[in-house]
Order: sequence, then structure tokens, then C-alpha cells
Amino acid sequence: MDLVQFETDTFTQLNQLLNRGEHTSVWVLMDENTEALCFPVLEKALKLTTGIKKIVLPAGEQYKNIDSCQLIWQTLLNGKADRKALLLNLGGGVIGDMGGFCAATYKRGIDFIQIPTTLLAQVDASVGGKLGVDFGGIKNAIGSFHDPLMTFIHSGFLKTLPERELRSGFAEVIKHCLIADAGYWNLIREVKTLNDPKIDWNDIIAHSVSLKSKIVEQDPKEMGLRKILNFGHTIGHAVESMSWETDNPLLHGEAVAFGMICEAFLSKRMLNLTEAALLDITDYISTVYPYWKFEKFSIDRFFELLWNDKKNNGKIQFSLLNEIGYCSYNTEVFENLILDSLRFYDSIYGK
Ligand SMILES: NC(=O)c1ccc[n+]([C@@H]2O[C@H](COP(=O)([O-])OP(=O)(O)OC[C@H]3O[C@@H](n4cnc5c(N)ncnc54)[C@H](O)[C@@H]3O)[C@@H](O)[C@H]2O)c1
Ligand SMILES: [Zn+2]
Repeated sequence: MDLVQFETDTFTQLNQLLNRGEHTSVWVLMDENTEALCFPVLEKALKLTTGIKKIVLPAGEQYKNIDSCQLIWQTLLNGKADRKALLLNLGGGVIGDMGGFCAATYKRGIDFIQIPTTLLAQVDASVGGKLGVDFGGIKNAIGSFHDPLMTFIHSGFLKTLPERELRSGFAEVIKHCLIADAGYWNLIREVKTLNDPKIDWNDIIAHSVSLKSKIVEQDPKEMGLRKILNFGHTIGHAVESMSWETDNPLLHGEAVAFGMICEAFLSKRMLNLTEAALLDITDYISTVYPYWKFEKFSIDRFFELLWNDKKNNGKIQFSLLNEIGYCSYNTEVFENLILDSLRFYDSIYGK
């Protein structure tokens, strides 16, 4: 059985799993938004004989930290959760990464189930076993690899997700196509507005999940191939961090979209991606994602962030496209060309 299952409104498979009676208690971790918008759906569908205990945190990346973990561990301890307890993580990537990490470490590890409720979490964060929290100002500085018992994806949760969040998650869908599936890229390019009711989210999510799973299976600990999933993320992460220092912070996927434009340019310069492919990519991304302007851009800060990226060992390395649907990793790029790619980003938006 695949680790990731798609669920309808009735959550039949999750119900079956819970009613096997293998767990002494069932806990649901969520943030305030998913408690209000997603928990009622789940509660209605679950036919549990024993009660579910809730752990609710404030929403947001700023709560993905050790203080929140302490609260989760303490609540489990106070509630006498033993090693046969089960934690359901109902939320976006923040809840999934942090809840998974708490479960993987509580009493040396209890079972947990991921129920991702954002597009980003459904197509990306819930696949691949990476768990963790931010620490010392560094994203995901503390964490582990650990697989959930199962992941249940219900695309119906996306109905309440703000369009901006949907667009952010969609950047990872675009990335998956660009690095590994040119055929699906041609389909995805037809999506112009993300709240279009005609979009078949189940198909899109299933495609991303299967593609990412295949890559992760071949290289679970990111020794090589898995690095292709970082396309758009080297510049994307630096831009994301810089945006947090302004009044106009970007969501993760928005920063990745920015990064993909720059890194497509680098792909042309370093790996001979064709001009036509570059235009295809940048036309589409700039249609879906609005321009983001640096407030007081600091070159020093930008390169400090690039050099600090944990994936760099003495070089600034990129995962770049050979062509649409094919990606290579570990291409070193020098600072001058990286700066050119930022200028290219501006030029795409006519700035
Ligand atoms: N483990 C991995 O491989 C991996 C991969 C990518 C990202 N991540 C992590 O994921 C996190 C980002 O995930 P995210 O974008 O899901 O952020 P998030 O969990 O903060 O969710 C975004 C916002 O949407 C709200 N929300 C969630 N589901 C909703 C719904 N159905 N309806 C309405 N609102 C809803 C949340 O309350 C939150 O305000 C980051 O911490 C990132 O590091 C992890
Ligand atoms: Zn990402």
C-alpha cells in the first residue's frame, strides 16, 4: 500500500486505520485556522469510538519552534500519552513538519499521520519524511527524517485556502513539471487563475506526489538526485529570507517562483537551456506571480544568505534545467552571473 492515500469526504481509509484499535489514544495537532476550517470536516467524517484530544497552536511560521514543541510534548505527557499514542497532524507544512518531529521524538517515537491542508503541504511537505522546526533564526535547523504511518490527502480542504496560499503551493507544482515532466508542464500552463473551479486538484496533487516520491525513493537523504527538487530554491531561499526583513514578506512558493525565473536564466547561461524554453518558463511564471520589489537591496546580505545556505560547501551550487523536464544538480555559478539573473528578473517584468 502506498504511504500517501487520497481521501473523499468520508475519510474511509483513515477511519479503517483508526478503528483497528492499535492506538491507546488519538491526538490531533492543528493551528487556529485549521481547527476552525478543517477540523469540523474531519470530525464529521471520523467515526471514532474513543474521544480525540486536540492540541491547538497559533498559526504561522513564527510558531514553528522549540517552544511550540515543548507545549506539544508537555500536553502529550499531561494527557498520559504512551508509546502507542497516535498523532494526527491536520494543517499546512508548519503543523506537519513540527507535529511529525514531536511525534518522532516523543518517547523515542510514536505513530503519526499527516493530513496536509494546504496545497504546499499536499504536493511537497507531506512527501519525503523531512521533519523539523526553525531554530536560532535558521529555517528547519533542528529536525529529523521519519516517515508517517500514512498521509491522507483530501483536496476538499483547499476550498477554504486563501488564493495567495494556493498560488504559493502551486510554485512547487510548476517546479515538479520543469524538473521532470515536460508533458505535464504543457497541461499546467493552461492554469491562469488558481481559484478556477475547473482545476482538477486531485490530478495535479497526485502527479506531484508521485513525481516527488519517485525522486525521494531513489535518494532519501539528498546525497545526489534529490537535489533537483531545489530548482528555484537557492535564490528563492535567499529572497525569501530577505523579504522577511521587509514590510512585504513573501510566501515560500512566491519566493520559489522568483527563484525559478532567475535560475531558468542561469540554466540558459550554464547548461544551454534554449531561449524558447526560457521564454516559455518566464512568460508563464510572470503571468501567475506578481513582481516583487526589493526594498533597499543589499548585495552583501544577499550573498551572505546564499553562502550560508546549508547546501553550499565552499561553492554556490545550483540545480539547473538542461531542458524543460530535465534537471541537473551541483552546477557552480559565480557571483557576477547570479547578479545578472536578478537583473534578468526585473527585465521580465519590464522594470
Ligand atoms: N518537509 C518538507 O519536505 C517541506 C517541504 C516544503 C515546505 N516545508 C515547510 O512547510 C512550511 C510551509 O507550509 P505551508 O505553506 O503549508 O504553511 P502553513 O502551515 O503556515 O499554512 C499556511 C497558512 O494557511 C492556513 N491554512 C492551512 N490549511 C488551511 C485551509 N485548508 N484553509 C484555510 N487556511 C488554511 C494556515 O493556518 C496558515 O495560516 C514551511 O515551514 C516549510 O519549511 C516542508
Ligand atoms: Zn519549496
